[in-house]
Amino acid sequence: MKQILKELNPKRKFTVILLMIHFVALPAISVTTYVIVKENAIRAVYNTGRLYLSAIGSIKHYVAEELRPVFYREMPGRFIVQGMSRSYVSSQVAAGVMHDLPHYIYKNASLNPKKKPQNMADTFESGIIELFDRNRMNKEWRGLVEKDGEDYYVIARPGVPFSSDCLMCHGDPLAAPPELIAVYGTTAGFHQKENDLVDATFVYIPIGVPLAAARKIVAFFVGIYVLIGTVILMVINVRFSKLYNQIDAEKQRIENINLEVLNMNHDMETMISERAMNLLALSVADRVRNPATAVAGTIKRLLKREDLSLPVREKLSFIVPEADNLEAIVSDYESILKTRHIMFKMEDLNEMMESILPLVEEERKIRDITITLKLSETPPRCMANRQLLRVAILHILKNAVEAAPEGGSVTVETGVEEDRIFISVADNGKGISPENMKKIFDLFYSLKRRRIGMGLPITKQIIEEHRGIITVESTPGRTIFRLSFPSRWSEKELADTSP
Ligand code: HEC
Repeated sequence: MKQILKELNPKRKFTVILLMIHFVALPAISVTTYVIVKENAIRAVYNTGRLYLSAIGSIKHYVAEELRPVFYREMPGRFIVQGMSRSYVSSQVAAGVMHDLPHYIYKNASLNPKKKPQNMADTFESGIIELFDRNRMNKEWRGLVEKDGEDYYVIARPGVPFSSDCLMCHGDPLAAPPELIAVYGTTAGFHQKENDLVDATFVYIPIGVPLAAARKIVAFFVGIYVLIGTVILMVINVRFSKLYNQIDAEKQRIENINLEVLNMNHDMETMISERAMNLLALSVADRVRNPATAVAGTIKRLLKREDLSLPVREKLSFIVPEADNLEAIVSDYESILKTRHIMFKMEDLNEMMESILPLVEEERKIRDITITLKLSETPPRCMANRQLLRVAILHILKNAVEAAPEGGSVTVETGVEEDRIFISVADNGKGISPENMKKIFDLFYSLKRRRIGMGLPITKQIIEEHRGIITVESTPGRTIFRLSFPSRWSEKELADTSP
């Protein structure tokens, strides 16, 4: 079971567990309901039966204690069964009551009845009578009994043990009243001894109907349970599926952003190191060109003089082609670097900004920085190389998030003013000191601070390749980088003015 659950995907697992709970609970609930409903039915039946037995009991009591003594006194030596036999009177009354309680059975079962075979105890009844006989304290037995294919709830109460008074009619037949002998004969219902207990009253209450009703109620209940349970299960399942899909989508989104952050970082690193090398090479070339030209010019001028000794002239003329060569290398180098071609097209800075924000989200969350966006209503559009400009803006934004104190804030604003558009990024960090301020865009200074510091000079270079201007103002508690770009220019124009 555990194995099966393990292999299911979490969505299915949840449903299967719910289903299992549902169907494990089902038998428990139906059994409990059945027991409760059945108990209720039996209690109702028991109350009726008990009332019935009590009525019969008090009739017996009345005959024995009140009627019989009166008969004895008024008609000594006579036996009138209608007034003197408890069992006769009670069975007559019981038969009358039976009309109102159809299917009930009343029986005064005896091990030794007088004449009436219907009063003879059957096996079950004999057992109960013997039970009462053995335990005289036991005044009631009750239980479910099947009789002639019907279910009955049976209440039994023990009869009265024979006392010396009873033996006149139940002991020696010769001592019995002649009237009794005339009606009942001398064969049955005699030869009892004092304290014998031979009878019990039984009331059989048909319980098939109430039990069927109980089963019906349970079936109905189980039906409702299954129905409602299934509906709830379905609703939960749908809800859960939705939630799970949402979680899935969110997970996917985060993974995508992570991948993009990774790619952007990689792009940025490659671009920065490549650009740093180029910038360095250009500066070296720039610094080498003048000395090379100067050396070549000076030597050419020197060679024009006639007072040079032959060995000196030879040595100097050996330098001239080398110096020329150096100059050529420098200009070749510059031209290679400058012909690098960048593709531009119209881009919306608002849209670009929104695509960059998720890339600093993790850092922002970790340091609890609030980023406020104030995007201009008119889309700030300009010619841009999307990848390059994103790297530059991301760099500025990252710097701001890193510069802001924990729990601090960064404000990003975009805007359109006349023929320019701008984007500003402000943080409430401790600011840049005036002496550092002079150097932050300086490649050689940056180089000393390793790769991290190279970002700003490269950013500046990228902004300038977009014909933009980058400015920075910094006071303790507020540093604002502002990038501004002309909203319209042609690429040809760019080529003309490129550095
Ligand atoms: C005056 C005679 C008389 C006396 C006294 C008497 N009985 Fe009975 N008893 C009868 C008769 C007659 C019947 C049968 C009644 C009938 O037809 O239902 C009977 C029936 C019974 C029955 C029912 C079983 C059967 O035979 O159908 C029991 C039990 C019983 N008597 C117990 C007693 C006890 C216990 C006493 C003493 C407290 C007692 N009797 C006193 C005459 C008597």
